[in-house]
Amino acid sequence: MERKSEKTSSFVPVLEEKDLKECAMKLVRVEDSPVLLIKKSDKIFAIDNRCPHMGCCFSGGTLDGLVIVCPCHEWRFNLRTGEYEDEPSIKLTKYEWKIKAGKIWVKLEE
Ligand code: FES
Repeated sequence: MERKSEKTSSFVPVLEEKDLKECAMKLVRVEDSPVLLIKKSDKIFAIDNRCPHMGCCFSGGTLDGLVIVCPCHEWRFNLRTGEYEDEPSIKLTKYEWKIKAGKIWVKLEE
């Protein structure tokens, strides 16, 4: 069975699915981009590890439900929408992903 966030063709395998535990974050690199994988409430999110505010690493932040809190200035981003809670026009970058052959695959923006 294959689960996808969206249909597309050129994904890169980044991590064994079993290595991403519930409520955990895992930093991987896809080409030159730092991608943070998050599993929360049995959902997977793949986001750019760099905060859109001043570029701090989300990997040092915390999860509050389906919100990731940046460690530098505590901006809160909704993982589903990518939106900053106080100003929804500011969004983190989300990546498409899928699971195939037991691995998580991520597709970067082209
Ligand atoms: S760098 Fe993330 S909130 Fe400022």
